[in-house]
Amino acid sequence: MDERITKSKIMGMADLPEPSVMLMNLIPMFSEENLDMGKLVSEISRDQALVARILKLVNSSYYHLKRKVDSVRAAVSLLGLMTIRQTVYSAVCYDYFPTEERESWSHAYTCSLLVSDLMRNNYVPQNGCLQLTALMHDIGKIVLRRKAPKKYRSVTFKCGREGVPPHLAEREVFGCDHADAGSWLLEAWNMREEIVLPTACHHLESFPEKCRVETSVLSVADWIDNAARGMARPLLSEESLSAAGLSGLNLDVLVASQRELIASVEAEQSGQA
Ligand SMILES: [Fe+2]
Ligand SMILES: [Fe+2]
Repeated sequence: MDERITKSKIMGMADLPEPSVMLMNLIPMFSEENLDMGKLVSEISRDQALVARILKLVNSSYYHLKRKVDSVRAAVSLLGLMTIRQTVYSAVCYDYFPTEERESWSHAYTCSLLVSDLMRNNYVPQNGCLQLTALMHDIGKIVLRRKAPKKYRSVTFKCGREGVPPHLAEREVFGCDHADAGSWLLEAWNMREEIVLPTACHHLESFPEKCRVETSVLSVADWIDNAARGMARPLLSEESLSAAGLSGLNLDVLVASQRELIASVEAEQSGQA
């Protein structure tokens, strides 16, 4: 089917996920060279459910804090920008993953934690949008599942029975994959190109010239997280590793430490359930 027809059918859905006002306000704020922390705290404090979720994330064992943090102001003054951006974006994006999408959420969240770690350890360049892109990169799966739940079950079946990667099974069934659907959605939300383009291209074999680094970091993080979850994927190309600045790193070590991260995040979540 013509891609334009597929796109207009999917984007014409009645119950497409909507961009939240909070998310749209946070993106420019986090992109400012000198983030106004006071402005950030008052923006977040307008939403008490969000405040509760941020505090829950900040106090999780992942951050190893010595004492309990009980306000957003304290969290902001105690944690660095990287961690604050990570927890705030995670708390906002969580609502896009309903209960039946817990598995997709877990993957999105631990991918985003991995991207933060790669930036924190200076393995990949610092980038204000990457953590958000990692959280939203597979949102297209939710769109496709919502569009045609039965059809999506046949995608899941194909992946399980034949070991076909989801994006290939989706293309067979829907005529597009979740990377397309996700990027169309984010484009409709007027998201920046450095979020839309890596989302669109994270399963391609070669990356676009524009946003090449962002796309390769995202696809490497996606690959590592999937490998840690036991999902077989084609081997990473040298191009993607070198564009992400990760050529010299031992992937086995990264996969093993991601496996530990996933186990600790999931143990924490099941303890809170
Ligand atoms: Fe994906
Ligand atoms: Fe993914």
